[in-house]
Amino acid sequence: MKRRYKNDIERYGSDILNSDELQHAYDQTHHRWSTVGEHTLRVAAASLAICYALRKIHVSTDTSAVVKGALCHDLGILGRYDKYKSNKECSRQHPADSVEVARRLVEDLPEKTADIIERHMWPAGHSKAPNSLECMIVSVADKYAAIKDLVQGSEIKHTGIKNKVHDFLGGDTRSD
Ligand SMILES: [Fe+2]
Ligand SMILES: [Fe+2]
Repeated sequence: MKRRYKNDIERYGSDILNSDELQHAYDQTHHRWSTVGEHTLRVAAASLAICYALRKIHVSTDTSAVVKGALCHDLGILGRYDKYKSNKECSRQHPADSVEVARRLVEDLPEKTADIIERHMWPAGHSKAPNSLECMIVSVADKYAAIKDLVQGSEIKHTGIKNKVHDFLGGDTRSD
């Protein structure tokens, strides 16, 4: 099962996984205890879990759009303390900035994938509502992953348990 997640993330997202942006994402704290990079992988894995579950009830999804959207959704938040004046500005602006990053990393970025990234903050951040099933999947997975970042991160602090997100995906996906 773990191999399936890793295969799909690498199949559709290898250019993003190997980008300087995602490498730097492991250096920026996110949701207090996590990093943008770890959160990104959690969102990709949670999004795929929803896709696999939907497939069992004969609902098909665009896996490529889901993986690319999930991997890029927060990359615009990198450098947030230099770019944005406040958390509110960050919350409203980073989805559009993430789309700009995605257009650099993904050749001919499909509008469906751009919408996934642009609308992932819904219903927060004055975001437009999701306009596709894939858009809704990544938005829901983002909230689920954010809660995991906060809960599992606090476990790290209080119990010393190591963050296992890379192990879950079957190994370190970083290129170095
Ligand atoms: Fe976000
Ligand atoms: Fe996020």
